[in-house]
Amino acid sequence: MNKKTVVGYTCGAFDMFHVGHLNILRNAKSMCDHLIVSVSTDKLIKSKKNTNPIISFEHRIEIVRNIKYVDTVIPQNDLDKIKAHRKLKYDILFVGDDWYDDQKWSDYENELKSYGAKIIFFPYTEAISTTKIKNEISRR
Ligand code: CTP
Repeated sequence: MNKKTVVGYTCGAFDMFHVGHLNILRNAKSMCDHLIVSVSTDKLIKSKKNTNPIISFEHRIEIVRNIKYVDTVIPQNDLDKIKAHRKLKYDILFVGDDWYDDQKWSDYENELKSYGAKIIFFPYTEAISTTKIKNEISRR
């Protein structure tokens, strides 16, 4: 009997790529056969955070595409993880546990369960984030 290919999915801005990003991609790939990563477009980041990313979409997606844990990269124009599931039919959605207590993610979890998919929250890598790097640069 053939074993089903487990498709994993994760997403993010991946601006100023750092070790927290690397950790989530490595951990995600260790739990699936095919990892799809969607990288937020500049427009989505601007609309969500009201600021432009430091690194352009073209460069961010190129960096993520070349990480050895990543099998497929796509642009993220929309934050809706259910729409993404409809399109990609992923089995596992991976995210950092900075989102663990978020109501939206708990709703996603329930809906995805009905489609046979699940969310795995990985421990957020402490002491680093794009925001922290930007703050540290301003401080210096
Ligand atoms: N992530 C993580 N550990 C970090 C930073 C990010 O596990 N230290 C995870 C996030 O939970 C998310 C993915 O990496 O699943 C992409 O995160 P992103 O928002 O692009 O990076 P941040 O550094 O958190 O960016 P910001 O500070 O702008 O929120």
